[in-house]
Amino acid sequence: MAEPVGVQRGLEDVVALESRICFIDGKQGRLIYQGYDIRDLAARSTFEEVAYLLWYGRLPTAAQLADLKERFGTLRALPDRLQEQVDRMPADAHPMDILRTAVSGLAFFEPEETRPGASSIGGAQRLTAVLPTILGQFHRRRKGLPPLAVRPELSQAAYLLYALLDREPTELEARAIDVALILHADHELNASTFAARVTASTLSDLYSAVTSAIGTLKGPLHGGANERVMELLDEIGVPTRVDEVVHAKLVRHERVMGFGHRVYKVEDPRATILRDWSRRIGEAAGDLHYYELLRKLEEVVHREKGLYPNVDLYSGSIYSLLGITHDLFTPIFASSRVAGWTAHVLEEYQDLRLIRPTAKYVGAVDLPYIPVAQRS
Ligand code: ACO
Repeated sequence: MAEPVGVQRGLEDVVALESRICFIDGKQGRLIYQGYDIRDLAARSTFEEVAYLLWYGRLPTAAQLADLKERFGTLRALPDRLQEQVDRMPADAHPMDILRTAVSGLAFFEPEETRPGASSIGGAQRLTAVLPTILGQFHRRRKGLPPLAVRPELSQAAYLLYALLDREPTELEARAIDVALILHADHELNASTFAARVTASTLSDLYSAVTSAIGTLKGPLHGGANERVMELLDEIGVPTRVDEVVHAKLVRHERVMGFGHRVYKVEDPRATILRDWSRRIGEAAGDLHYYELLRKLEEVVHREKGLYPNVDLYSGSIYSLLGITHDLFTPIFASSRVAGWTAHVLEEYQDLRLIRPTAKYVGAVDLPYIPVAQRS
């Protein structure tokens, strides 16, 4: 048997599998879903079209798209017993914990979707449809808002906003979230997608794989940088303080959130699109405070460290201006990425190979066993 020769910490640069779903060109700053440039998809498509594209490998016809929208509408309601369980979960829990536990719980009510290895697009659609309902149900209870009435006729983006805000979103607001959902829907073998594929590669079911993925996205090194960007903006306050605050952070060797990326060596194309949406939503709200701070922040961080913005720099400003609570930012990410997670799980089932890397052992061997009574 061959000995492991080296250690690629964090599996950096390790090519673990072949996939047709997503391509990141880190040098050119391009992101491709199933052959389509993210800039075209963000400008011209909807989240529903993108979810279909990720699952089926092609854009839907008008009839297929109408069918998917209808399915999302009918799949939004929670089973009564799960709704009761969500209502009993602690009101001070993090919404990512609620999502993780509710998705795991949903599996009890959908046994046909949880057969090991079932290559179920039905399960993928169900999970994508239901995540906004779980979030809305939980968030409204903790805010003392009336219980969520499922709205089958709304798009995923409009429904998510309606569920979280207890009001009808404007067309512009719904489109801003639609674009955010498109941009977050997949990103190749990021940590949560990898976790989902590892789970699926054991022939476990789709719901277990998505539960793994949600738990992985929850970590602050993966989801959550956009929340920290907003904390930074609050700390900075006014554009004239950007230089001073950034300088102090860099002197302390702290990271400036929303900048840098493991794969992109130029600007993340998702940041380019979200910058524009941050300005548009700011203009509509008559409040360009965040946008102006972020522009100045970009200028200073690029000058000081040569770093470019990533997807997390501008998204939080959009969500905040829409009135969305900070701890819902990562759950919004999950409500989009679930399309990518499930597409990858379905792909894994098609070309299954147990994912099981090797560790280089650096511990002791041949220690003499000492009976417990003789140990000191
Ligand atoms: N602020 C300050 N310095 C940074 C930053 C940053 N945001 N990002 C990288 N650097 C610096 C590092 O300090 C290091 O400098 P040095 O060579 O002088 O020591 C150099 O750039 C390289 O850093 P690495 O950590 O090796 O770069 P890597 O590509 O692995 O990091 C990461 C990628 C983790 C995203 C990093 O840029 C970072 O921590 N950014 C802030 C957090 C963030 O915005 N995360 C969201 C990422 S997008 C997503 O996951 C959805």
